[in-house]
Amino acid sequence: MPRQDILIAIDGPAGSGKSTTARLLARALGVPHLNTGALYRAVTWALLKRGIWPGEPERISEALDALRLELRPASEGFRVWVDGQDVTDALYQPEVAAHASEVSALPAVRAWLLDRQRALGEAGGLVVEGRDIGTVVFPDADLKVFLVADLRERARRRWQELHSQGVEISPEQVEAELRKRDERDAMRPIAPLRPAADARILDTTTLSVEEQVARILQWAREIRRIRYGIAETSEAK
Ligand code: DC
Repeated sequence: MPRQDILIAIDGPAGSGKSTTARLLARALGVPHLNTGALYRAVTWALLKRGIWPGEPERISEALDALRLELRPASEGFRVWVDGQDVTDALYQPEVAAHASEVSALPAVRAWLLDRQRALGEAGGLVVEGRDIGTVVFPDADLKVFLVADLRERARRRWQELHSQGVEISPEQVEAELRKRDERDAMRPIAPLRPAADARILDTTTLSVEEQVARILQWAREIRRIRYGIAETSEAK
């Protein structure tokens, strides 16, 4: 099926502002937002539930063969269902977060999720957020944005988010964990975190959310109008 609307890839390290930016961007364009981190978290959730650890490749292959992962369209994005159960809210539990990076480094898991992600983006009209969207999943995305921000600022944002949720953690601890995750995501042999050669790199350290969204929106609207003939007025929601 030929693509009928813009496909946007938003990549970058943890805490660079991907999720908020992707969500607001999608809302402004009137298209859904796919957070691929949720897919890696869903697989992690399913493996933990079955008592399987990342160091057991054979059991992981078997579990993937039997795993039913569904994305059901919701108001602005997707709800994630595993084995007939809506697990979306459980994906952000600390236990899942603690193992998602390790699970996402497993080749079998990445291969298993690749086709599923591609099928969802085939027709376009989607903002896809992750680590390898512009490099591996959709190397032909219409617009690729790689968000970066200083480690200290990313840790501050993440700490604020956790703090407001009542999680007791020090800013130093958040910074150390982010650094560890960045290293693991960037050093893994398959689909490491890095910008595509044709990605636009946006440093959000000193930008407000509104500013970063406005900048990407400007690029997106222009591409959308030129390539797909979709003009500003039809986007207004
Ligand atoms: O964005 P997040 O924190 O929800 O992602 C969870 C984990 O999945 C994180 O360790 C990075 C990994 N991930 C990935 O390897 N590739 C993606 N496209 C998205 C997430």
